Amino acid sequence: MSSMSRRQLMLAATGIAAVAAAPRLVFAQAAAPAPAPAAATGPFTLPPLAYPTNAFEPHIDAKTMEIHHDRHHQAYVTNLNNFAKDNPQIADKPIGEVLANLTAVPEAIRTGVRNNLGGHANHTMFWEIMGPNGGKPEGEVLAAIDRDLGGMEKFQNEFNAAGGRQFGSGWVFVTVTKDGKLAIETRPNQDNPMMDGKRALMGNDVWEHAYYLNYQNRRADYLKAWWNTVNWAKIAERYAAAKAGTLGA
Ligand SMILES: [Fe+2]
Repeated sequence: MSSMSRRQLMLAATGIAAVAAAPRLVFAQAAAPAPAPAAATGPFTLPPLAYPTNAFEPHIDAKTMEIHHDRHHQAYVTNLNNFAKDNPQIADKPIGEVLANLTAVPEAIRTGVRNNLGGHANHTMFWEIMGPNGGKPEGEVLAAIDRDLGGMEKFQNEFNAAGGRQFGSGWVFVTVTKDGKLAIETRPNQDNPMMDGKRALMGNDVWEHAYYLNYQNRRADYLKAWWNTVNWAKIAERYAAAKAGTLGA
């Protein structure tokens, strides 16, 4: 502190104010985004990607994958571990139980837990249901898509349209009930269907951080290209788990 000049202090303060005022604009324009806060150790951990960050080129570029996983998702995990220092109970129950009972979380951290535990759940699902050489839907999942969503073409068109209509940041999901019924639903911010006692079979992230480096404002193009990254074998596993009542995040 003592070595920092008055001018440096003012510049630092100005930078902090600018980031706070328009974080997404800063991200979009920055060549090298600020690193995520230093990782706090604790009960929450960042799940590693099961594939290299360039696995989805050209549909999702490696830099976007790296920043999205290593910085954005890591930030949610770090924030949760900071909350857990004084509130370890948020890590004691399955994520779905905590998200379905947010009124039980102390008010001082409730919004933070909603945003960061929702973000952790959403991104954990997101990395899991993507993969190279993802195949095609078949078996029970394909039958459910045909029965509940009008077949693959209609499903993909309506999923993309719903993702395009989501105003600002959020997610487009396919939710699944315990009896295997599917529906397309959107959520704002980092909300997750588990907050309504539901489960996400799959979902796509329509936050600008998911696509802005490569697609800028062309969210519709990202939504279309994203289908090339979907791992249908993993979605079949999640469908079976949902029907068995064992699907977590
Ligand atoms: Fe994201």
